[in-house]
Amino acid sequence: MTATAEAPPVFSPYELIHRKRDGGRLSPAEIEWFISAYTAGEIPDYQAAALLMAVFFRGLDADELAAWTRAMLESGEVLDLSEIPGPKVDKHSTGGVGDKVSLALGPLVAACGVTVPMIAGRGLGHTGGTLDKLEAIPGLRVDLGVVAFRRQLAACGVAIIGQTREVAPADRKLYALRDATATVESIPLIASSIMSKKLAEGCEALVLDVKVGKGAFMKKVDDARVLARTMIGIGRSMGRPVRALLTAMDQPLGRAVGNAVEVREAMDLLRGAGPTDLRTVTVELGAEMLVLGGVASGVEEGRARIEAAIASGAGMECFERMVRAQGGNLSGLPEADRVVPVLAERSGFVQAIDAEEVGLAAMALGAGRRRKEDSIDPAVGFVLEKKIGDPVERGEVLGLAHVRDRPGSEGPLRRFMQAFTIGDEAPGIGPLILERIS
Ligand code: URA
Repeated sequence: MTATAEAPPVFSPYELIHRKRDGGRLSPAEIEWFISAYTAGEIPDYQAAALLMAVFFRGLDADELAAWTRAMLESGEVLDLSEIPGPKVDKHSTGGVGDKVSLALGPLVAACGVTVPMIAGRGLGHTGGTLDKLEAIPGLRVDLGVVAFRRQLAACGVAIIGQTREVAPADRKLYALRDATATVESIPLIASSIMSKKLAEGCEALVLDVKVGKGAFMKKVDDARVLARTMIGIGRSMGRPVRALLTAMDQPLGRAVGNAVEVREAMDLLRGAGPTDLRTVTVELGAEMLVLGGVASGVEEGRARIEAAIASGAGMECFERMVRAQGGNLSGLPEADRVVPVLAERSGFVQAIDAEEVGLAAMALGAGRRRKEDSIDPAVGFVLEKKIGDPVERGEVLGLAHVRDRPGSEGPLRRFMQAFTIGDEAPGIGPLILERIS
């Protein structure tokens, strides 16, 4: 008998859907086959949508989830950064309003000796995206190819780029299908989607910032905790240590919400100024990254090293190097035509600021996208003058709107104003770092 190459297994999509629908398990081989056949266009959308809906209701156990994530990860290019010396650690945030942490965090961590290979995303709806913020810097490119990405990591210790078409193509296809079939809000599907992309970029360890609250994907701490634990479990199954912080997203993080305005605020932080909440989240995430990278023995030492990189200006120097390497010119950050104060209609204390509403108001000004194909205006946005707990007088400035000279900004300004709840009592202020999970 002559030896022949073993043919890949072929399963029945119908049988897999049927079994998952009834609460059964799929084997790793079945999952691997399904994901790769769907990515190759050999399984129609209607059968993939049916399996996604079955997973939405029945979930995936730990072995299924590991196989699902691995299949998505291996559907495309998996970067090997082993030739770059030293630890490689990244951070992922589940997204919020005013979350410009990555812009300062990447350079700060790199300045402390840990390489940060970051593949980031764009904003959609009320949440902003790191790539859009970076692209507010004139000339800055986020579409570096893999060769330039590696070169920059070796030279600067940090690069922030967009997802290439080669990374996790299964996720791109499955995510679009989930978006159209109401199957996005499934913890195993979210966790495998995020982790397949993050693990493809060549990091050895990962810190997660799982946002919780009105402005976040996860509205409840319990759900955020399950998501964090699920992603940590996936990391463990692939031998990559993952730690998570659950952080509050009940009001925008920091004061700036937009693109150029957020870059300015991230630079303020790197110069040792900037809002306290932004600094706290950045320092805490940075400390965890240094611990995972093995350059700090504990969170305490990690914090001190990040603070030192702020105080010495080493983080700022690294940020400037990263911007230059990606073609950006910091002297030309775009400015809006006008800065318009938004005034309080009553006196009292700021009791709540609906982060989602602030994000939507910024989107309506032009700072964000309603649909993926929309373009954004990098100059517009809001800068909050008041945050939760601050006293306010009627007629005092709640925030500054950076707007264009064209009709139609009244609606977003009103929406921004109405995002504030002002009452007679000073509110209790909850913690910013809700939980640490490892
Ligand atoms: N972000 C992702 O990358 N994937 C999801 O499924 C949800 C949020």
